[in-house]
Amino acid sequence: MRILVTGKNGQLGRSIQNIVNTDTKIGNNQSPNDFIFIGREDLDLSSKSSISHYFDNNKFDLIINCAAYTQVDRAEQEAELANQINHLAVKQLASIASNQQSRLIHISTDYVFDGESNKPYLETDTPNPINVYSRTKLAGEKALQTVMPMNALIIRTSWVYSEYGNNFVKTMLRLGRERDELKVVSDQMGSPTYATDLAGIILEIIMHKKFRVVAQTTQIYHYSGEGEITWHEFAKEIFKLAEIDCKVSPISTQQYPTPAKRPRNTLMKKDKIVKVFNIKISNWKSSLITCMTLLKKQQ
Ligand SMILES: NC(=O)c1ccc[n+]([C@@H]2O[C@H](COP(=O)([O-])OP(=O)(O)OC[C@H]3O[C@@H](n4cnc5c(N)ncnc54)[C@H](OP(=O)(O)O)[C@@H]3O)[C@@H](O)[C@H]2O)c1
Repeated sequence: MRILVTGKNGQLGRSIQNIVNTDTKIGNNQSPNDFIFIGREDLDLSSKSSISHYFDNNKFDLIINCAAYTQVDRAEQEAELANQINHLAVKQLASIASNQQSRLIHISTDYVFDGESNKPYLETDTPNPINVYSRTKLAGEKALQTVMPMNALIIRTSWVYSEYGNNFVKTMLRLGRERDELKVVSDQMGSPTYATDLAGIILEIIMHKKFRVVAQTTQIYHYSGEGEITWHEFAKEIFKLAEIDCKVSPISTQQYPTPAKRPRNTLMKKDKIVKVFNIKISNWKSSLITCMTLLKKQQ
């Protein structure tokens, strides 16, 4: 299989690259040379012509789309750009994948839900996004399913962090070292996802015999770390592990207004992905320890 991974400089793209480059044989005779990682300099998803031009000259068996417009607050001001990258570009990728008879794995978000449920969300639950970013991500999911009813897979994930880029863990570590006290939201529930865990799961899926069957209906799967916490609890654990002496006080969402509204509870049920691909999900705490150990080594 010739595999294209977009968003090579993002958290997930870099995590996939890291595994591929350190694992000399990824299973099923797949070699690191079969993977092509690209960033916006080669394929700019904000430009329709850049996308068509790139695929005029390149053909793949599988596209893993890790690129996205991910700045949730800024999207409120840049709705058109977010829509182009998260919706229209995904539609175009799906159309190209369909014409090239390639498979497509696309990443979406827990934020497609409004967070008002008191139960973890199932893949079949009705989305109801409450901010611009989430609306563009949902539009991308829907366009993909329409253009490519077969041979694609959408993975919704949540609260992604890693050693790379900007994320909650790295922000907390920085702020915790600068300040004596931080106020962190304690009424939003979710499950942190270590990008390396998600990267590993994607690689497991593409090697799985169930994925390799041709002509499959396009499916949505939920995947996140195991466990349910608030941002406040997450921050407390980060400081505990890093031995940072910073008081973390709980505040409500109302006390911490942001340009984009955030859903209150975005826990997702993951039974489907576990059952279909026979995967194991790591607990958020053990994955956080792994990530923080690597971050410490980088210091
Ligand atoms: N981060 C989260 O908490 C979270 C939660 C739920 C779902 N997700 C989803 O998970 C996926 C991976 O997220 P992530 O955390 O890895 O995101 P990320 O670190 O923000 O990476 C996104 C990548 O997309 C690239 N990109 C942005 N605009 C582009 C454009 N116009 N053309 C080409 N590439 C472009 C960025 O390129 P540059 O490096 O050049 O900017 C970046 O490398 C996304 O689909 C996201 O929506 C993320």
